[in-house]
Amino acid sequence: MSSTHATVRDPLDVARIQADFPILRRTVHGKRLVYLDSANSSQKPQSVLDAMDRHYREYYANIHRGVYTISEESTAAYTGAHEKVAHFINAGSMREIVFTKNITEAINLVAYSWARANLRAGDPIVLTDMEHHANVVPWHILAAERGVELRWITLTDDYHLDLTDLDQLLDGAKLLAVSGMSNVLGTINDIPRLAEAAHAAGARVLVDAAQAVPHLPVDVQAWGADFVGFTGHKMLGPSGIGGLWAPEDLLDAMPPFLGGGEMISDVSRDGFTPNELPWKFEAGTMPIVEATGLAAAIDYLEALGMDAVRLHEKQLTAYALNALDERFGDRLTIYGPRDVETRGGTLSFLLDGIHAHDVSQVLDEDGVCVRAGHHCAKPLMRVLGVPATTRASFYVYNDEADVDTLVDALVTAEKFFAI
Ligand SMILES: Cc1ncc(COP(=O)(O)O)c(C=O)c1O
Repeated sequence: MSSTHATVRDPLDVARIQADFPILRRTVHGKRLVYLDSANSSQKPQSVLDAMDRHYREYYANIHRGVYTISEESTAAYTGAHEKVAHFINAGSMREIVFTKNITEAINLVAYSWARANLRAGDPIVLTDMEHHANVVPWHILAAERGVELRWITLTDDYHLDLTDLDQLLDGAKLLAVSGMSNVLGTINDIPRLAEAAHAAGARVLVDAAQAVPHLPVDVQAWGADFVGFTGHKMLGPSGIGGLWAPEDLLDAMPPFLGGGEMISDVSRDGFTPNELPWKFEAGTMPIVEATGLAAAIDYLEALGMDAVRLHEKQLTAYALNALDERFGDRLTIYGPRDVETRGGTLSFLLDGIHAHDVSQVLDEDGVCVRAGHHCAKPLMRVLGVPATTRASFYVYNDEADVDTLVDALVTAEKFFAI
């Protein structure tokens, strides 16, 4: 099998990276673990595990509350994690970074706080056919409660957003809620262009960057959107932490989402005064140690360089597309763009006549972890006309040997089901 980018050197030293991920040393059914499910959740490097372990062992205490040394250290780490995220996505300041438990909560924060304060019956919200349920269901709930109108950007034959009728769809719209990169198709959307069109129509823009932030260099200011959500467990960090970026003036104008401890500066029998940003949106005891893990994950990604991460994934995806085409031809359908410039390393496919779940079960016998199902994107599955796909997704620790193992395991699956 040959790579279409054979002459370009892989910018990542994948063998060294693999050595940083303890889980990649284990075997499954006697086979080397080949983890191709990072679009679902990524694995964690030793440095993330160590940072969290050190926090618990050496300076764990609740944040913001204590005036004793370890509480101050814990608070400094937590605040520092906000600063690290702000730098990573080029936010104006850490005041613009609100931590949540995942991106689902970040999008719900926008739906419950900003949208309920600003949208009325009949106000249009524009979504796309490639959204994850996290960027669909909060808007369905709002539609049922407030009577907002949901409009949908459809897809072209080559799995991009069909922007032919964009201006009509945005006419009168109050919000465009769009994925930065599809978790099924891999399609990377042109956020600056979409944001410009939405703003020209007077709509706010929310980007679901759950897949974009881990895999692309993301600059929220260059994107020009109003809200950007991300989730830590897909970017080498722990589960239990994610967040929302929005500019300070917008966050300032929004009512609090969850009420409780930490999100207030004062409370009396008569009412409360919200805390300053970003704490105004961080009610209750937050994922303190998870924030430390997320900061360590960002350190790891920054040391690799997000340009290098992107280039590595482009090369590996081109290699995989080629390899799958060569081995299976028309017997395998790939749902997503063919041009690696406009797609990430998420490959959804179906092998002729074999159910997606059956394929993934046979792959597991060979130690290959892929996801099968609707990928929390049922509107998209309906558009594609399939109930499910098998999805292999790549990250910094995957290499061509992993792709070769996937292809060989798929050959085994084909033979198994041909009998
Ligand atoms: C594009 C996209 N949006 C949102 C989510 C939801 O992420 P979480 O479960 O961390 O909230 C996912 C996770 O699969 C995703 O891929």
